[in-house]
Amino acid sequence: MSKYAILVHNDSYIVNIQGGNMKRIRLIYSLLIISFITALGFSIYFYEHVQTINQEMEKVYSPEVTLPKYHFVLIVEEMEHEYWQLIGEGAKDAGQKYDVLVEYIGPERSNTEEQLKLFDKAIKSKVDGIIVQGLNENFTDMINKAERQEIPVVTIDTDSPESMRHAYIGSDNYMAGQLAGKALVEDTNGLATVGIITGSLDNPHHLERLKGFKDVVEQEEDIKIVAVEESKITRVDVEEKAYNILTEHENITAFFGTSSYNGIGIVSAANSLQRENDMYVITFDTIDENMELLKNGDIGAIVEQHPFEMGYLSVEKMIDIMNGKQTKEITHTNSSIIRKTSLDIEETMVVPNDKN
Ligand code: BGC
Repeated sequence: MSKYAILVHNDSYIVNIQGGNMKRIRLIYSLLIISFITALGFSIYFYEHVQTINQEMEKVYSPEVTLPKYHFVLIVEEMEHEYWQLIGEGAKDAGQKYDVLVEYIGPERSNTEEQLKLFDKAIKSKVDGIIVQGLNENFTDMINKAERQEIPVVTIDTDSPESMRHAYIGSDNYMAGQLAGKALVEDTNGLATVGIITGSLDNPHHLERLKGFKDVVEQEEDIKIVAVEESKITRVDVEEKAYNILTEHENITAFFGTSSYNGIGIVSAANSLQRENDMYVITFDTIDENMELLKNGDIGAIVEQHPFEMGYLSVEKMIDIMNGKQTKEITHTNSSIIRKTSLDIEETMVVPNDKN
């Protein structure tokens, strides 16, 4: 029997087939309705999204929203270093006041090659001004390159006086070294065997600090400098160098460190050789870790610099340059000596004020 004959002669089969078709049709309708609703939902969503984007674009291009007046780049030695972050904060503070975008850039760990690459990039991007250290001849060349393209440069922290830079803002590094020397003479009563760890044996600011220090202590008959080593700014190197100096010269009684991390490394080395109690340490910068070591007596004195102020003034100086104002070429920020005793004095001075 053919299939057709079955359809004709078997009623229930026909009903089943019709029921099946109905279900399929309902399913198709439902799918169509769901697809329609989904498509409608998407259309509404995208329409609103495009509207929001349009509104934002209108805001950006509307005459009320203006771009900052200038774009300055601050190239630092180490992005995460507390000292440089303070310089960055000062620069950004001034940037806010004067409507300037201050871009804070630099390598994660001290790396002059990377700094120079960033410097070159800033020149190519034709920023309005560049704030940077003058660390060596390569920096001098790059400063001159920027200035020849009419991008003014302000050196910060380390000067490059032989370059074409417009101005320098930072410590008088020779004088700061002298201050360290005088403090050591006073605190050791002019009797010491000294080891020195310097951030670098090439960078001008460390050399100036070293010279200032030597010029003072070498006038003292009973002070002898027996070793000078370089830390390349890293903590690990300082500790290793200090450890080597201490084992080679067991008679050392004092250390001078010319940059921020030197004191920390010297103290660790002295601790590991159980020399901390008979060791006088003087180092640079009031970063938090140094202040802790000063408070607990592991560091005898700190040469304080003013990084926040350096950052702030460098932006102000650049604004003056933008406005064609004749300004001072060199601005020295303060340096001073901080001892535990000066902290004690400050603390006792704070108490009566608190009570008022
Ligand atoms: C120096 C900076 C240096 C920093 C970190 C400071 O004393 O002035 O040039 O980057 O120490 O070691």
